[in-house]
Amino acid sequence: MEKIVILTGAGISAESGLGTFRDEGGLWAQHRIEDVATPEGFARDPALVHRFYNARRVQAAKAKSNAAHAALARLQMDFPGEVVIVTQNVDSLHESGGAEHVIHMHGTLAGAFCPACNHRWASPPEMAVGEPCPACGAATARPDVVWFGEMPYYMDAIYDHLAEATLFAAIGTSGQVYPAAAFVHEALQSGARTVELNLEPSTGASSFDEVILGPATETVPSWVDGLLSPR
Ligand code: OAD
Repeated sequence: MEKIVILTGAGISAESGLGTFRDEGGLWAQHRIEDVATPEGFARDPALVHRFYNARRVQAAKAKSNAAHAALARLQMDFPGEVVIVTQNVDSLHESGGAEHVIHMHGTLAGAFCPACNHRWASPPEMAVGEPCPACGAATARPDVVWFGEMPYYMDAIYDHLAEATLFAAIGTSGQVYPAAAFVHEALQSGARTVELNLEPSTGASSFDEVILGPATETVPSWVDGLLSPR
């Protein structure tokens, strides 16, 4: 059976109005990673970190999924094999576009997490410093997102999927953040064909068998059409 493993990044949500991280004017041009996306930054100034994620939660709640998200949902539904979507994105646009079983390796804005007892719950629209964990009462609640220096979620399951992949696609990701940036090498070792769909060649574009350039809302639906058309 064929198995397609798809890794997505901020570029797939760009045309839904959500800013990427490293494009001109992107989130990391406006905020210091050390301040808002590390455990040390949260320990130093939790109010600043909550403000950053509260704003992203508001923005993500307003965003609508686009034709690229919908095309991947269609692929998951109609492909006569398995289609696994792994996303680095913390928005829920794959799900609102109709996808099921999305692996959120960098967590999700929709979740809150208590580092004291590992309890997880649905985040309120706005999180505040000192909010008590509903399970243990500790006042250390944080967004359920993965920060730099932390291990992404579901890594064992992802590596198992990559070991079985017959096709690996990376969509809308700059290939600068590990371990996701190394998935293409895992897939190649498994004998998978590899394809990148991005606005411009990513840092690791030379590792892919094929590179398709253009906006995701155009390239992804036509790539999916090709995979679903009878061979
Ligand atoms: P980046 O901002 O690093 O890269 C986004 C990529 O999408 C770039 O290569 C753009 O060229 C491409 N792109 C932009 N608009 C596009 C469009 N309309 N269609 C197709 N491609 C487009 O975002 P990620 O690679 O997702 O992690 O970043 C990876 C991780 O770094 C994030 O998950 C986040 C960040 O720091 C954490 O916070 C832990």
